[in-house]
Amino acid sequence: MKCVIAAGGLGTRLQNFRDNKSTKILLEVNGAPMINQQIKQLNNWGFENFVIITNPEYSDLIQDVVKKAHSEFHIEFSVQDKPKGISHALLQAEHIVNNEKLFFVLGDNFFEKNPLEGFDLDDFKEGAYIFTKSVDNPKEFGVAQMDKEGNVISIEEKPEMPKSNNAVVGVYMFDESVFEMISTLQPSKRGEYEITDLCNLYVNNQKCKNFSIDGWWIDAGTPERIIELEEKLG
Ligand code: DAU
Repeated sequence: MKCVIAAGGLGTRLQNFRDNKSTKILLEVNGAPMINQQIKQLNNWGFENFVIITNPEYSDLIQDVVKKAHSEFHIEFSVQDKPKGISHALLQAEHIVNNEKLFFVLGDNFFEKNPLEGFDLDDFKEGAYIFTKSVDNPKEFGVAQMDKEGNVISIEEKPEMPKSNNAVVGVYMFDESVFEMISTLQPSKRGEYEITDLCNLYVNNQKCKNFSIDGWWIDAGTPERIIELEEKLG
């Protein structure tokens, strides 16, 4: 399965952290740029075939950094002209991913364990999978509500009044219809094509399943979380 990595955007919450003037994905995490740490993590989970979505300003630099460190893998790049949201970032892979299921990861998300551990990919016939973890601060993430059978019934982006503690972590699996679905999305109030809105299209068709993950998870989008990630990676 191809793995699409969202590495566009600038990471405004990390500008100037450790003199960072470029993009979050190039920030050093335990001595290696975050994007290379991400590829290492994904390869540990078994992926060797990647599509990396970059922002135009740092596209060449990201390509250099990645190609130097990971010439052994099949890696393609696609530029997102503006940071119009995570679903919009995924859409930039459409010309590379051909009518196949895909794994999508947010470049700044790191995990103790492979989220796909215990998951039989043969069970993935159609629809979408989200992965969730119970957290104390759900307001900071996409939040999923499940019914008693574990079916996803709603997902909200950073809600003021979360309906559960289940944060949607930054890995997703989508079937072949994903690009068609994205093309029907409208921008949210903050002007972005939201990943939660994409998942909700699958929820509305009763084709979105949830897989709860074990172990720590870090969305390394703030200075505190980068430091925490470095401690965890050791
Ligand atoms: O970490 C999990 C959370 O990630 C989810 O629970 C949320 O539903 C989801 O919206 C996302 O929230 P964040 O606020 O953490 O997203 P962020 O803007 O940090 O973007 C995540 C990654 O996606 C980051 O590596 C940059 C990339 N990105 C982001 C945008 C907005 C793009 O490639 N293009 C974009 O336009």
